[in-house]
Amino acid sequence: MSKSERAQFATRLGVLATTVGSAVGLGNIWRFPYEAGVHGGGAFMLVYIFFVLVIGIPVATAEFIIGRHTHSNVYGAFRKLHDSPFWKVSGVIGIVASLMILSFYSVVAGWTFEYILRSLQNFNGAETQEALHAQFNQFTSSWESVVWTLAFLLVNYLIIRRGVQNGIEKMSNILMPVLFVILLAFCVNSLFMPGASQGLEFLFKPDFSSITPQVLMGAMGQAFFSLSLGLGGLITYSSYFSSKTRLLGSAASMAGLDTLVAIFAGIIIFPAVFTFGESPAEGPKLVFEVLPSIFLDMKFGQVWSVLFFVLLFLASLTSTISMSEISIAYFTEERHMSRRNATLLNTAIAMLFGTLSALSFGPLRHMTVCGRGVFDLLDYLSSTILLPLGGMIISIFVGWVIKRSVIYEQLDVVSPAKARLVKVVIFCLRYVAPTCILLVFLSGLGVIRF
Ligand code: TRP
Repeated sequence: MSKSERAQFATRLGVLATTVGSAVGLGNIWRFPYEAGVHGGGAFMLVYIFFVLVIGIPVATAEFIIGRHTHSNVYGAFRKLHDSPFWKVSGVIGIVASLMILSFYSVVAGWTFEYILRSLQNFNGAETQEALHAQFNQFTSSWESVVWTLAFLLVNYLIIRRGVQNGIEKMSNILMPVLFVILLAFCVNSLFMPGASQGLEFLFKPDFSSITPQVLMGAMGQAFFSLSLGLGGLITYSSYFSSKTRLLGSAASMAGLDTLVAIFAGIIIFPAVFTFGESPAEGPKLVFEVLPSIFLDMKFGQVWSVLFFVLLFLASLTSTISMSEISIAYFTEERHMSRRNATLLNTAIAMLFGTLSALSFGPLRHMTVCGRGVFDLLDYLSSTILLPLGGMIISIFVGWVIKRSVIYEQLDVVSPAKARLVKVVIFCLRYVAPTCILLVFLSGLGVIRF
């Protein structure tokens, strides 16, 4: 496909809203609090922010450079820039990992449907924490959760079938600001809870002794996941950017807003965790068990609750749309499938693995590899291993392989100040990001100790 035939995002706000739309999703509101909870709160937060700055923003910029320069899907982009099998393999990693993420992500996105309905029924009048736990466990271990997973993938299918500009851009423009305001309101509400100071202390006061290799691995994986990095999602999106889009600025604003939303989610959840006597280290269930308690306690809780889960569902949708686009662009441009068939294939694969993931909370609970069920395994392999690996390849590629002139042209270096900034980014891509990723991997695998 030639440059001019490819769709483009229409406006600057559109670019910001779509990239933030891709980044902000369950990663911020569901995964960030649960990972922070499991990994000791403040220590996790500190390491997380460090990784966003030294790895997240540079790698996001690198993906933007590759995408806008080649105007291609992730596999084609590497092929165009350097036709060697090694770099193409990283394109394949991206496509496989995006399908893995789409599968388990849809399970959690499906939970939001159930929670919209339950909000309407006021959680069947559940009065205690135990009752809410029991309701959640009963639901996630039943076939109902499979039905919602498939329903979510169907909605995703109906939108991605229509192509890039129509659906994605318009929806994100409206949705993201609304979500932001609502989250802010919930933050204020949480600050007045009896457990507020304990919750904030947990989230913001780092205990340096609890920074373990697992915390580093978890925080790095979370940074990649939340910023939609490492598997070419941003390569694919930026292939639709116009030549006017400022890449470095877009990467920084996206990372900033995304991190802000994650911090909001933490400020909403942890005061409630301590107020209602929950354990912060509850894992994937944490947010879904804690939120209903918050809503049941609020004035007009039912209205807030419905609104929140509707927004969470929509935020998940803007993220799954971006994930799906990775493999669809590959199927259509490299494998010459029609958009219709590519979309069907993407949905069919996700439905299969999504069903297995959903069942791993119930009937398939005992099907495990290295102690992890299907859901857990897909999450771990993709977020903790494949995304950072993809990120390392992308940073080495842009830092060492690609021509400098391409970087300077894409980043629009016009002033000495800008040139200095770009040098810092290149330094991070050449040395800091690959070294950090390697060290974190080695320490996580127990090869080195500190
Ligand atoms: N960043 C999204 C979230 O936080 C998830 C996501 C969307 C993603 N597209 C991606 C993760 C591409 C990795 C790669 O919910």
